[in-house]
Amino acid sequence: MKKKLYFGSNLKMYKNINETITYLKQLQNATLDLNRLEYTIFIIPSFTSLHQASKDINQDLIWLGAQNMCWAEQGQFTGEISPLMLQELGLKIVELGHSERRHVFGEDNQILQKKVTASLEHGFTTLLCVGENEQEKEFDISNEILRIQLKTGLSDIKEEQLPKLWIAYEPVWAIGVNGKPATAEYAQKKHSEIRTVLEEMFGAKGKEIPILYGGSVNLQNAEVLITQPDIDGLFVGRSAWNAEEFNHLIRNAINSYQKSCT
Ligand code: 13P
Repeated sequence: MKKKLYFGSNLKMYKNINETITYLKQLQNATLDLNRLEYTIFIIPSFTSLHQASKDINQDLIWLGAQNMCWAEQGQFTGEISPLMLQELGLKIVELGHSERRHVFGEDNQILQKKVTASLEHGFTTLLCVGENEQEKEFDISNEILRIQLKTGLSDIKEEQLPKLWIAYEPVWAIGVNGKPATAEYAQKKHSEIRTVLEEMFGAKGKEIPILYGGSVNLQNAEVLITQPDIDGLFVGRSAWNAEEFNHLIRNAINSYQKSCT
């Protein structure tokens, strides 16, 4: 059976409001013809761009998301953003546990578990990012790390919330300017491990949770990554931040996937 494909980008702390809107409009126009029943396209911009983006962009075409969220609805949480504030914008996605949140800002699995629970309870499609760092890979404990991140982060989920859960596998050593992309073979092995853990936790329903790969995805490796059996989508940073380039990457990946199905 053909899988549904997911293509998205986290804009991190790049692009101001005008740049974000221009980018989103370009991407929306360039991808108008792609059937959204087969392909989901999503962008996760800065908080300051979200209000304007939610007015200017058709979220049936480009799903919009937030890069982080507090677990509480309101309170003494200076600097945080409440789920109610994100609901006010009509956002579809909340991304949690990106490597930079975990490693630069010290978010641990317990904090992420509270955030994942709150995000699903507020009806957001929740994209939990997991991945081992370089040292953990060297010690050959990547599978254990993934298992801990998943089993802790997802420990409070109710079965009916599963259709709104997405996972991104983003090995820390593969992300950003100093990262080197995982080979398709390595990424497939880890996605398969993640799939096993999800099935242990959620039975047959675990098979249906989309698992996206992220970390130095580019025009070249997108084609081979997307054809791996347990890779459902690509979560792209730098190679997606020009709308034309991202559109090109998406189309290359789709062509490659379609060829692999024939
Ligand atoms: P790069 O594609 O720039 O390595 O970033 C990946 C990423 O962090 C997506 O969330």
